[in-house]
Amino acid sequence: MSRIVGGVATSHVPAIGGAMAKGLQQDPYWKPFFDAYVPTREWVAKVKPDVVVMFYNDHGLNFFLDKMPTFAVGAASEYVSADEGWGLPILPPFPGDADLSWHVIEGLVAEEFDVTTCQEMKVDHGFVIPMGLLWPGDQRPVRAIPIAINTVQHPLPSPARCYKLGQAVGRALRSYPKDLNVLVMGTGGLSHQLDGERAGFINKKFDLFSMEALIHDPAALTEYSSLDLVELAGNQGVEFLMWLAMRGALGNSVKEIKRNYHAPISSTASALLVLETEEQPDLQLTAA
Ligand code: DHB
Ligand code: FE
Repeated sequence: MSRIVGGVATSHVPAIGGAMAKGLQQDPYWKPFFDAYVPTREWVAKVKPDVVVMFYNDHGLNFFLDKMPTFAVGAASEYVSADEGWGLPILPPFPGDADLSWHVIEGLVAEEFDVTTCQEMKVDHGFVIPMGLLWPGDQRPVRAIPIAINTVQHPLPSPARCYKLGQAVGRALRSYPKDLNVLVMGTGGLSHQLDGERAGFINKKFDLFSMEALIHDPAALTEYSSLDLVELAGNQGVEFLMWLAMRGALGNSVKEIKRNYHAPISSTASALLVLETEEQPDLQLTAA
């Protein structure tokens, strides 16, 4: 059976991709940000994922306002990036795992998540930058399954719904008969607002509270509505929905491996959270 080895939540600000492309990891501005990923990569090497399931939000590259799925699951054998206008390099394709994608889709639809299935899916900075932070350069040692959650076109799914989506993805992954190690990721956030009257808005107090709650009491965060998140974390800070979905997949109890908060990067409070799974609730149930 497959097992979930842990979760990584990270910001995906496009400027990070620019800094990686220019090799600025030791630059004084960037060093406190990039240094946090060194032990993270060491941990990833230790838990040896075969597959990464990534909750991310598309920003207009693959879906646009005319057709906007709430939840979309990649079911392709590879995923390509494309020019989004940020001046970032276009990277070699990321290999997928279509068989596992369909297993996850079957599980989600059986649990009444009527997802959009994407046998072609372009992946934007929300996916590409976190992949580059964990596996720099052109190396492609893991297969990936992107799961996009709408944060662009209202109405947005609620935090409770995204958490439950993550729980259902977790159950589907743990019921996959092949013996795979799966890392779950959630990308975006933390607080930021890129436009409007509150452009530049950062809420450090809420960010630190929500990182702490995500570890020990994630259900408490599901009391908020998506509009509460917009108010507390900014228009784009609602990307925290990805972090909640990631956390849902991990099960009840997790061990903190790494936490970093570094604000601002661009106009965003950047953050990293690495969690190791401590138990696999579904497996425990069958063993009891
Ligand atoms: C920025 C942050 C994002 O999450 C994003 O998708 C694009 C830009 C920023 O801070 O510049
Ligand atoms: Fe974003």
